[in-house]
Amino acid sequence: MARRRALVTGAASGIGAACATRLAADGIDVVTADQAAGADERVDVSDEQSVVALRDRVGAVDVLVNSAGIVGPSAPLVDLDLTSWRRTFAVNTDGTFLMCRAFAPAMVRHGWGRIVNVASIAAKDGNPAQSAYSGSKAAVIALTKSLGKELATTGVLVNVVAPAAVVTPMNATTDPAVLARSQSLTPMGRFGTAEEIAELIAWLSSDAVSFSTGAVYDASGGRATY
Ligand SMILES: NC(=O)c1ccc[n+]([C@@H]2O[C@H](COP(=O)([O-])OP(=O)(O)OC[C@H]3O[C@@H](n4cnc5c(N)ncnc54)[C@H](O)[C@@H]3O)[C@@H](O)[C@H]2O)c1
Repeated sequence: MARRRALVTGAASGIGAACATRLAADGIDVVTADQAAGADERVDVSDEQSVVALRDRVGAVDVLVNSAGIVGPSAPLVDLDLTSWRRTFAVNTDGTFLMCRAFAPAMVRHGWGRIVNVASIAAKDGNPAQSAYSGSKAAVIALTKSLGKELATTGVLVNVVAPAAVVTPMNATTDPAVLARSQSLTPMGRFGTAEEIAELIAWLSSDAVSFSTGAVYDASGGRATY
């Protein structure tokens, strides 16, 4: 069998970078993409033309991991400006939509594919002072459920992971009070690591998964209760 190809967004940092390393260890040819330097390909996932150009450069892939994301503003909803709100949704929600729309059709033509989106425990719980982030990630869960059902008989499985707080550069800019609250809500009493999330994503990117699609997989140290 030919080696599989994977595309990982947000792969210059954090969970995306850990996914690229972990998928490569499974013998997959990994293409990394990011808005920042340090990836094979530059892309702004919130920009339709940028995503289409990435698809034209990279071509078909068997596995797509959508890890690019931003935490957005940490402030009460009533204090948010519309520009920050929209930017958070543009990256997290539009970006996931655009990447799925660009890369799913070739997977369907090949009769096999795995898409793994990255949401957050915030999508389920609704973190205070993170309404834009929480809302944008809730939309990622819902669009994953829709696409999973749409592609259910094609061989392309679409799932989403919902991590609690993970030690990555993203949290360097998160309000310490938000992080402290997150840790206090986590029964294991610690943050996750990018490698722990990548392990779950590698499994969801493999043949080992055959009867799950449109499903949400928690990696939350026991925090998620549904
Ligand atoms: N770190 C956490 O606590 C945590 C928890 C739950 C979910 N997540 C989610 O995991 C994913 C990865 O987060 P991380 O912790 O690795 O963060 P990170 O900041 O370390 O990495 C995110 C990467 O996405 C890239 N990116 C941002 N906007 C982009 C754009 N428009 N186009 C292309 N690339 C862009 C950044 O350049 C960066 O390299 C995100 O979707 C995040 O919301 C993170």
